[in-house]
Amino acid sequence: MKSFTPFNRRGLLGLAACLTALVLTGCGPSNDSSSSSAGGESKPSAKALTVGFAQVGAEGAWRTAETESIKAEAAKRGVNLKFSDAQSKQENEIKAIRSFIAQGVDAIILAPIVETGWEPVLKEAKQAKIPVVLVDRGIKVDDDSLYATLIASDFVAEGKMAADWLIKKTDGKATIIELQGTPGAAPAIDRKKGFEEGIKDHPDMKIVASQSGDFRRSGGKQVMEALLKVHPEVTAVYSHNDDMALGAIQALEEAGKKPGTDVIVVSVDGVQDAFKALVAGNMNCTVECNPLLGPMAFDAVEKAVKGETLPKKTIVHDRVFDVSNAAAELPNRKY
Ligand code: AHR
Repeated sequence: MKSFTPFNRRGLLGLAACLTALVLTGCGPSNDSSSSSAGGESKPSAKALTVGFAQVGAEGAWRTAETESIKAEAAKRGVNLKFSDAQSKQENEIKAIRSFIAQGVDAIILAPIVETGWEPVLKEAKQAKIPVVLVDRGIKVDDDSLYATLIASDFVAEGKMAADWLIKKTDGKATIIELQGTPGAAPAIDRKKGFEEGIKDHPDMKIVASQSGDFRRSGGKQVMEALLKVHPEVTAVYSHNDDMALGAIQALEEAGKKPGTDVIVVSVDGVQDAFKALVAGNMNCTVECNPLLGPMAFDAVEKAVKGETLPKKTIVHDRVFDVSNAAAELPNRKY
């Protein structure tokens, strides 16, 4: 039998790598549209950048708005965007990144579903000299040179803003159900932390139950239905995002309670449906978290591919909306 020399073994490894790249390109997650410019609105010129965008999924209105913002900005700048929807699975995001590396993209934009588990794939991107721009969620890595920059809201501050608003509204006395986001995700961890810090000096602000609804409307409804049976005495809901809050509102109504009056509902994101609920009086407060990150993300990509050093984090500033300002803002909401 013929033995392999180091040379032909390398050749075979190279062939295997090419085949892997082809397989990954052709068989990525089902919503992977890794071909042409987003929206097909512009034709990339010879010098156009090719950028891979690994998105978490489409769990709610906020994330859809973020995806649209990135796609629209890519189209505007003539960027050849390769988009992958990971369908809420980290393994799919990792596969997509490997596929982007194999295709030799100029840069990668990553919205990381959870904080941990990124080192190996980001090391592969670094080795391939492909800068990675993180959008909306942070990660935990020992070596922060594994990514170029993070563009995101301050989720701890958002949780604190929600707590401050609720303390004022209830004179510091509330029996609270907390709806958490996806376990391990930066906004779930930090919004919980910020809210707890916000209420810590108010002994009558009590979280009686805290459970994940996975940032989804259906999750918020199911969790609220279950928790209402155990805690019918609840006077407030703190939800880590609007979609779960809107699901909880439905559950409250079906249980014969009046959301916004019997039970105060405070949430985060500021999506249009939340504004409609604020105006209708079913929701009481939403802390904005801006998903329109396309322009900032591509500014960062363009600088990173030129080798410019970027700030490690750029914080997007958010506002608080309630009955006092929601109606005036509703016609201006872009997401
Ligand atoms: O990372 C941002 C959060 O993720 C948004 O609050 C939420 O709606 C989304 O799923």
